[in-house]
Amino acid sequence: MIDRREFTYSVGLAALAAMVPPEVSALGRLSMQRRAIPGSDETLAIVGLGNAQVFYEGDMETSRELIRIFLEHCGSYVDTGWGARETVGKIMRENDAHEQLFLGTYVEGEDLPSMRAEIHRILDVQGGESLDLVQIMPPDDFSRRREQFAALKEEGLTRYLGVARYAKQFYPQMMKLMEDSALDFIQINYSMMEPEAADDILPLAQETGTAVIINRPFINGGYFGLVRGQEFPEWAAEFDCHSWAQFSLKYILAHPAVNCVLTETSNPEHAFDNLGAGFGRLPDINQRQRMEVVIRALM
Ligand SMILES: NC(=O)c1ccc[n+]([C@@H]2O[C@H](COP(=O)([O-])OP(=O)(O)OC[C@H]3O[C@@H](n4cnc5c(N)ncnc54)[C@H](OP(=O)(O)O)[C@@H]3O)[C@@H](O)[C@H]2O)c1
Repeated sequence: MIDRREFTYSVGLAALAAMVPPEVSALGRLSMQRRAIPGSDETLAIVGLGNAQVFYEGDMETSRELIRIFLEHCGSYVDTGWGARETVGKIMRENDAHEQLFLGTYVEGEDLPSMRAEIHRILDVQGGESLDLVQIMPPDDFSRRREQFAALKEEGLTRYLGVARYAKQFYPQMMKLMEDSALDFIQINYSMMEPEAADDILPLAQETGTAVIINRPFINGGYFGLVRGQEFPEWAAEFDCHSWAQFSLKYILAHPAVNCVLTETSNPEHAFDNLGAGFGRLPDINQRQRMEVVIRALM
């Protein structure tokens, strides 16, 4: 008998196959695949950039190179925490890339006036009238101050609201908020090494029309320790996968609830590798099971 998770997964894959034809960018290049933000006519490219160390450190030369590669691959989502958002905002402005880039930002103000002031300071750096996405970290904080966050959206200071966390213990609180229709986005961890999101929160995102951003695709680099020195499976070429980094990313992206996976790197060669996962075929359910066997044997 097919279970709910498997059914949602296979129905979702069929829908994706119908909805996501390869695109050609304004520059005439083949563009990374994109998926719609539920309830909107806006789409996001499926591989994003995380909060890179070089963004935090203000290493403008490497940061410019990473963003240049990202723009050339028609990327859109960049996750920008404190420190990083200044670097990315400046580079977005230099490239006049407001149309292409979609920045996920975190605010830390304790009340509405301080959050408004913080958002105006961010907009002064990056330009534009409104942030794309404000993310709040503890789901408790979102529940407690829900009206304040909703006011930011009503006032046009952000277009979307979300909660961003990195571990399964936060899922129950996040799911409660999703059931209350409080969130446009969730950002959570999910990978072959941390697969629990597939049990409940990802299916709920599909049911509630919540956009999903995935973090920790390489469990903060630990994944490369697992696969280092291992023979790369030849059969991965069947779904256009050519590196261990793409092996993790394509597994994640084959889940139909996922809008975009964040990849953190300060190395332009790694950025090329990671962005390659956004092109070509994705594994089907049988190929995904085969991938799980490979990775679980290494854990
Ligand atoms: N809101 C939250 O609670 C939260 C929590 C965790 C993460 N996040 C977001 O999610 C993003 C990604 O998650 P993460 O921080 O756990 O990092 P990750 O993307 O899982 O792993 C990053 C590590 O992998 C290495 N790496 C990346 N691409 C590689 C490649 N192609 N080949 C070899 N090594 C590679 C990087 O080193 P190099 O720099 O050398 O490439 C870095 O050490 C973060 O940047 C952040 O934006 C959010």
